Amino acid sequence: MSRSFAQLARTEVKKKASVLVEKEPLETPPLEIHTLGNDALRQHARRISKVDETIRELTRDMLRSMYTAKGIGLAAPQVGINQQLLVIDIDHETPTTPPLVLINPEVITASASLDTYEEGCLSIPGVYLDVVRPSTVKVSFRDEMGRPRKMNVDGLLARVIQHEMDHLDGVLFVDRVTDHDGLDKELDDNGFKSKDVRSIG
Ligand code: NI
Repeated sequence: MSRSFAQLARTEVKKKASVLVEKEPLETPPLEIHTLGNDALRQHARRISKVDETIRELTRDMLRSMYTAKGIGLAAPQVGINQQLLVIDIDHETPTTPPLVLINPEVITASASLDTYEEGCLSIPGVYLDVVRPSTVKVSFRDEMGRPRKMNVDGLLARVIQHEMDHLDGVLFVDRVTDHDGLDKELDDNGFKSKDVRSIG
C-alpha cells in the first residue's frame, strides 16, 4: 500500500469516526427524550462492551436530539437506550468544538468540598432547582473511539458529568433536591407529579 493511500485511508477513518454534528435544532430530532414518570429513566444502564460505528451513530443521534432540545447533556436512558453512554456539550456557540462523549464512566474520586448549583434536565422540562454535589471529580471513561481516558473536572462540567452519570443509575436530579416544598411546587407548575420523585436528598 502506498504511503499516500495509507494517509488517505487514515483521513477517511478519522472523518467517519468523528461524532461532531451540526449544532443546529432539527425540525424532527432522531430520538424522543422521555420525561419524568417514564420507567426508562429508572433503569440501571448496562456497560458497553464494544465501541463501534453503531455506538457512534447512536452518539450522533443523541447529539442531534440534545442540540434540538437546547440541552448541554444527555444520557442514553433518556432516549430509552439502556446503555452507559453520555453526550455533553457546554459550548453550543462554537460549531467546531467537539462534544464530550463518555462511555462506561466511573467516578474515581470526588472532592469533599461541595457546591450548590441550579440544575435542570431535558427529561423534566421547566423545572430548575438547587442541588448540592462535590465541586470537583476525577472520572474515567472510554471516548467515542473506545480509548480509555481520565479527566479532572470542576465547575459546570463537573456538575453536568455528575448529573448525567446519575441517569445511568436511574437517578434524577429532583431525587437529590432537599427543598421538598419548592420541588412540589415546581413539579406541579410544570405538569409533573411528586410521586414520580424517589427522594434521596
Ligand atoms: Ni438530566
